[in-house]
Amino acid sequence: MIKKGIVLAGGMGTRMSPLTKAINKQLLPVYDKPLIFYPLSILMLAGIKNILVIVNKGQLNQFRKILPEKNHLGINIQYREQKKPEGLPHAFILGEKFIGKDNVSLILGDNFFYGQSLTKILKKSVSLKNGAKIFLHPVKRPQLYGVASINNKQKVVTLTEKPKTPKSNLAVTGLYFFDNNVVKFSKKIKPSKRGELEIIDLLNIYKKKKKLSAEFIGRGGAWLDTGNIKDFYDATNFVSAIENRQGLKIACLEEIALNNGWIKRKDIKEAIKFYGNCEYSSYLKKI
Ligand code: G1P
Repeated sequence: MIKKGIVLAGGMGTRMSPLTKAINKQLLPVYDKPLIFYPLSILMLAGIKNILVIVNKGQLNQFRKILPEKNHLGINIQYREQKKPEGLPHAFILGEKFIGKDNVSLILGDNFFYGQSLTKILKKSVSLKNGAKIFLHPVKRPQLYGVASINNKQKVVTLTEKPKTPKSNLAVTGLYFFDNNVVKFSKKIKPSKRGELEIIDLLNIYKKKKKLSAEFIGRGGAWLDTGNIKDFYDATNFVSAIENRQGLKIACLEEIALNNGWIKRKDIKEAIKFYGNCEYSSYLKKI
């Protein structure tokens, strides 16, 4: 069972400069809430309550203002600063103490997931005991991501980071579930040409041991990347379209916590006080 999760919210966001010069990308708005609410909501939907957020050195206080350690969400948040981005697997080295003897999930702070099918997959996947699990999604330009090719039994055959000629259109999304060996394996891998530890190298260790499984976020689900300005605003438009049509919010953390039975009505009242008089609070009043 996976009870712990890491949100990797570091990175310099250089592709989004000047927006990211003073503010971490994960705190920029995707429509009506900071980007980090979306990946955090995914861990919460999976039922994960113990969360480590990895942030850049010097940016801790920015994050604490919106997601304090003592919060009204019924979750335990811890922070760790990283000096510089050293690749995704570095999160497990930084998080060694937090992980302890448990299994752990990792989600990238700039990844956006949506879809009812996804919640079902998440609930099933947290029962992982051994090995690693990845979540694949078809994309038009796989060469921008880690790419998995699969055989007719839906088993992963190859995993390549940003291949020039991709063997499939299946991107490895920024959500991963691992057993406790992940700390040991992360310490084993060496930095790539771009000077970072690569998640694909880590996953390939599991694959070699036949301990890697994949779930498919089919066409009914959405995985959006928020790497550059265009993609960022596409995500904003997506959220705006869905929320204004349905009158339901995507990634309303308090709503998820309430549905999970982690908080009570009085905590929602606290949240309304915390956010102040705004549209988000009006929504909280309704739920
Ligand atoms: C990273 C991973 C890549 C994955 C992507 C998902 O890429 O290395 O395998 O597909 O996140 O967002 P990066 O953001 O470092 O380019």
